[in-house]
Amino acid sequence: MNEKIIKSAERVKNNGEVFTPSRIVKMMLAQPEIQVKIKDLSATFLEPSAGEGAFLVELLKQKMAVSLSKSSSATIYNRNCLIALSSLYGIEYLEDNVEMLVMNMITTFNQLYIQDITNFGKKPNQHVLESAKVIIRANMAQGDTLKYVDANGKPIIFSEWKRVGDSVKRVEYTFKSIIEQSGPTGTVKDATEQIDLFADTDAFADTKKEIQSKFPEYARCKWTDIYKQKLE
Ligand SMILES: C[S@@+](CC[C@H](N)C(=O)[O-])C[C@H]1O[C@@H](n2cnc3c(N)ncnc32)[C@H](O)[C@@H]1O
Repeated sequence: MNEKIIKSAERVKNNGEVFTPSRIVKMMLAQPEIQVKIKDLSATFLEPSAGEGAFLVELLKQKMAVSLSKSSSATIYNRNCLIALSSLYGIEYLEDNVEMLVMNMITTFNQLYIQDITNFGKKPNQHVLESAKVIIRANMAQGDTLKYVDANGKPIIFSEWKRVGDSVKRVEYTFKSIIEQSGPTGTVKDATEQIDLFADTDAFADTKKEIQSKFPEYARCKWTDIYKQKLE
């Protein structure tokens, strides 16, 4: 397939916009350390300059396949594929790219879900599709990763989709606080040291409590009820 990796010379110059070809993405994600994380449905991934989602879309495809392999019923698959989706985060600066990113994530999720749910002899559950849209819109931010701000200059906010038994608790944090708890900006850690975006490190424990008190609190709910966005 002929993939377009550059839209214009001006965009390359202004924003460093060069998309990664799919075969390179697949090769990079095939690294054993990455595959371990892909097989862990809750392990988080952040694409900080997401473009149209070259990495996130492929991660979604692979995590959806893992969700299917780990599910013994439609009810469990409905939950697992939303857990997998909720682990993927992206930030992109340009508005048209973010629109494509969100659309690509929604289309990929819908296609795979509608196809794979038939393995259990069931029809697609509309609540799964609606909840998926809410997760994608919350996890894909338009903004400047380096300045931690969104398109309006306000702090980028990300939701943690915390597993509580078979339910989920949505908790919001500023992107800045998430980065600060994982070490000085710009440091690259060893694969073995890479931590989850919302890891309960000692350094983050106190700030976490403080930050949480500043956002509306979402009620704990079933994964398929995320679309209701009910507050406590
Ligand atoms: C080299 S492209 C990579 C896109 C995608 N990750 C891929 O592999 O196809 C870099 C992307 O980062 C975006 N970008 C540039 N500066 C950024 C910033 N400060 N914050 C967020 N996104 C940024 C650009 O608009 C562009 O879409």
